[in-house]
Amino acid sequence: MRAESGLIEVGVLVALIEYVILTLISIQQFAAFITVLPRAKVSLDRVGEVLATAEPVWIPATGEGESVRQDSSSGIEIEQLTFRYPDASLPVIDELSLAVRTGTTSAIIGSTGSGKTTLLRLLIRDYDPTRGSIRIDGRDFRDLTREDFNRLFTIVPQQTFLFSDSIRENIRAGKPDASDEEIWSVLDACQIGDFFRSSKDRLDTDIAQNAVNLSGGQKQRIALARGLIRDTRYYLFDDCFSALDFATERKVRQTIQERLTGKTLIIVAQRVATVRHAAEILVMDEGAIAGRGSHEALLASSTIYQEIIVSQVRGEVS
Ligand SMILES: Nc1ncnc2c1ncn2[C@@H]1O[C@H](COP(=O)(O)OP(=O)(O)OP(=O)(O)O)[C@@H](O)[C@H]1O
Ligand SMILES: [Mg+2]
Repeated sequence: MRAESGLIEVGVLVALIEYVILTLISIQQFAAFITVLPRAKVSLDRVGEVLATAEPVWIPATGEGESVRQDSSSGIEIEQLTFRYPDASLPVIDELSLAVRTGTTSAIIGSTGSGKTTLLRLLIRDYDPTRGSIRIDGRDFRDLTREDFNRLFTIVPQQTFLFSDSIRENIRAGKPDASDEEIWSVLDACQIGDFFRSSKDRLDTDIAQNAVNLSGGQKQRIALARGLIRDTRYYLFDDCFSALDFATERKVRQTIQERLTGKTLIIVAQRVATVRHAAEILVMDEGAIAGRGSHEALLASSTIYQEIIVSQVRGEVS
């Protein structure tokens, strides 16, 4: 109106509107900034916490270089091993003694919470034992460096962890210089090669964050393939067949056994079907080895083994 009647020039009006818009945009930006601030503060605190966290065990990265590179592989000897988590009152591993000879496959079975995962984690020195000793190939495991552990052990953990990256890179996490042929070969060994062969991007197939685009069994087989591509003396499988159906599991286990002939394997499992064919089964109960032997021998001698079988059969029926 005022512009029409000539009280305000049009230019002034346009400038006024322009200034108002500019001011509003700035206010909006400021509001957005204010809402981000608390989030930034939380992130910063978390980064600080992570940086300040001390490693539970300090292990030198490399040593003088004597050692494991050479020859003698005499297996794992565990003596009177006792371990208590820092904030717990009772030991999780209690006076456990065990010898695992080179080139053998041992299966560990035991109820949930009996300390199986803890035992494997102690072997790779994620924690230090409260008492007792572990000797690996004749050497006290406290003398080994990170490089030694890396060269000696492959562990496939109970909790599958995949990166949001291509399947190729996920397998290469096990062996950085692996060729495509090697990758296909381990994927095939773990019965998952055809799945990626039929997918459009083949080895470039993306694994989504948290691997939401894969089933539990597929994830486990990828994790197994990642372990299998490594060339180490000892392989520790922590309950990583649990999401596979029996037929697939048997095939995967057989190919793994074939490919790892001569290596030392420790297979942790919950299901009797997974362990029953192992030459040596260790029954773990409340942090100790409660029985040791073949399926038949344990069936006759170990009440805990019998109980596990009965509970699984009953579980299947009910
Ligand atoms: N980080 C931890 N801190 C404290 N206690 C723990 C920790 N991890 C495991 N525990 C305890 O140690 C015991 C053994 O746990 P572990 O994971 O070794 O059992 P498991 O035999 O592998 O069981 P599952 O068959 O369910 O995997 C459990 O009672 C558990 O509560
Ligand atoms: Mg476990």
